[in-house]
Amino acid sequence: MTDIPIVEAFDLCRRDAERGQVLLQPASFSLHDGDRVAVTGPSGSGKSVLLRALALLDPLDAGRIEWHGKPVSRITMTHYRRNIAYIRQRPAVLEGTVEDNLRYPYTLHAYRDVRFDRERARSFAERAGRGDDFLDKSASELSGGEAQITALIRVLQLAPEVLLLDEPTASLDPESSHAIEALVKTWLDSADARRASVWVSHDPAQAARVSDRHLTMRAGVLDEVTRPAAPPGPQDNQREDTR
Ligand SMILES: Nc1ncnc2c1ncn2[C@@H]1O[C@H](COP(=O)(O)OP(=O)(O)OP(=O)(O)O)[C@@H](O)[C@H]1O
Ligand SMILES: [Mg+2]
Repeated sequence: MTDIPIVEAFDLCRRDAERGQVLLQPASFSLHDGDRVAVTGPSGSGKSVLLRALALLDPLDAGRIEWHGKPVSRITMTHYRRNIAYIRQRPAVLEGTVEDNLRYPYTLHAYRDVRFDRERARSFAERAGRGDDFLDKSASELSGGEAQITALIRVLQLAPEVLLLDEPTASLDPESSHAIEALVKTWLDSADARRASVWVSHDPAQAARVSDRHLTMRAGVLDEVTRPAAPPGPQDNQREDTR
């Protein structure tokens, strides 16, 4: 066991390229093995900007990220993005079946060393409460919840170290939301590897369920609300206005 975080961000800063407005004030943050972090905050406060910055999907205007204690270089970037997986707020599904969608990453150069495992994909779907026929469903017929489940399985099957979940259940009914939560929990718990999650949510009850650390964003400023040293008691159930 080591104390080096999986991911450590030092003064990450993002600006709007056109107007120069600061979208993310210098934010530092570290993510350790087993961390389950919730991020809440009003709409437009920069939660997605933060997650995309952590995933190194957008160019940083300042700051840096270390991965297992080392800077991410051009050479390790592909590997980083494969392991620090961002699940978009509105997932894109491709034409074809769910299985076609799940097979897609394996057609990419970055995943040429791994093979699609239908049985594993089916078992993920089952844990998300979907039957045997789910993989054969046409992507164009998926409900919002099913599209989100597809997007999540597409990532989980590639065994990332960190999931950056951007409101993955925003437009879902409670049952589908719980299915997504269960799927992520299984992935976190079943780890013989190092894993951690960051979950953006507007629902305080969900944020509490899926996390043991709570960060807030407000007008581009990242803050830590609680990091209990001891197991949390009732007094740690802080309320956060999340609109
Ligand atoms: N690439 C970009 N260029 C310019 N402005 C951006 C860019 N991405 C986001 N913004 C702006 O940054 C601010 C924060 O956006 P962000 O999407 O992170 O909000 P959010 O907290 O995720 O909101 P929500 O809860 O509605 O998803 C918004 O004002 C948005 O318009
Ligand atoms: Mg957002």
